[in-house]
Amino acid sequence: MDKIIISTSENIKSEIFIEDDLRNTFQEYLEDKKYFLITNTKLAKLYPGFIYKFNKNRVIIIKDGEKYKNIKTFEYIINKLLEQKIERKDSIIAFGGGVVGDLAGYVASSVLRGVELIQMPTTLLAMCDSAIGGKTGFNSKYGKNLIGSFYCANKILIDPQLLNTLNIYQFKCGLGEVLKYAFIEKSCNKFSEFNLIDFLKENQKEDLKNQLKFIIKACVSLKANVVTNDRLEGDLRKILNFGHTYAHPFEALSNYKGLSHGEAVAHGIKYASKLAMIKGIINEDYYNQIVLLLKKYELINKKLKFKKEEVVKLMMHDKKVENSKINLLLPIAPSEVALFDNIDSPSIEASLL
Ligand code: GLY
Repeated sequence: MDKIIISTSENIKSEIFIEDDLRNTFQEYLEDKKYFLITNTKLAKLYPGFIYKFNKNRVIIIKDGEKYKNIKTFEYIINKLLEQKIERKDSIIAFGGGVVGDLAGYVASSVLRGVELIQMPTTLLAMCDSAIGGKTGFNSKYGKNLIGSFYCANKILIDPQLLNTLNIYQFKCGLGEVLKYAFIEKSCNKFSEFNLIDFLKENQKEDLKNQLKFIIKACVSLKANVVTNDRLEGDLRKILNFGHTYAHPFEALSNYKGLSHGEAVAHGIKYASKLAMIKGIINEDYYNQIVLLLKKYELINKKLKFKKEEVVKLMMHDKKVENSKINLLLPIAPSEVALFDNIDSPSIEASLL
């Protein structure tokens, strides 16, 4: 069993356990109190044995999909909890991917002004990224994750075997984030020895399914180090957004269909790296290594058909824009990135050619 701890200067602690079969042994990590389970319709069908371990009045099942990550589902969950007279000493368990985890996390941070939260992520993306570090929330018609809070789960129970039921689309969603961690590894922790770039070079896509524990442990450890030092996203935590400033317009322009989040991030990493090469920040050799790795894991083989002007326009509406200059994370050396605050639209357009 692997155990990783996030422990911040404000005394916020998250214990993360990575162990096969946790979906069956999780009760060993719980206390003698009331637990409310939040999950979705798909997982309820896939894991009935897990769901039946909870009192049925305390199981809340929401619809599956990003489009349900909204205020209506938030209200639905809150009403169910209040109907069942949740108390402050009770606990919420989020069993699901990013939608369930983010929504349940926000519910836990707000119902009765906060109850204990336990995350049990079921997707690669949630295990490696979204369930760690306390970003919670839901989407509004004005954009993604615009309502939310920072609220760390007390415990995060990760069972890599849950990924056996993951489809290729969901796997790629997570894989994009795994590659992101490879390219930011030394910025997350300069002493890190996971050497994710080498690991991804040495392995083949088909091998990854047998190496999930190592991959999850590496990403979680890197993120835990970042969150321990900068939970509220002062400066350091921003590095976790590598590739995302390009990815958000790509996802929006494809109406969040067809292009997975991981693929959008991978394309974002490619264009940010191209910009770094154009500006002479990295050499052509490192740029080619990045592109080769993204291609090897089949994350950038879909051709994006967006007009570069449209991408730039959306990027310029981003909250990271000041005086028409955008803040962008660029690679500066193998496994290292840095934030540049003076990128103008012609440079972005040039990277998209
Ligand atoms: N997924 C980025 C973060 O947690 O900060």
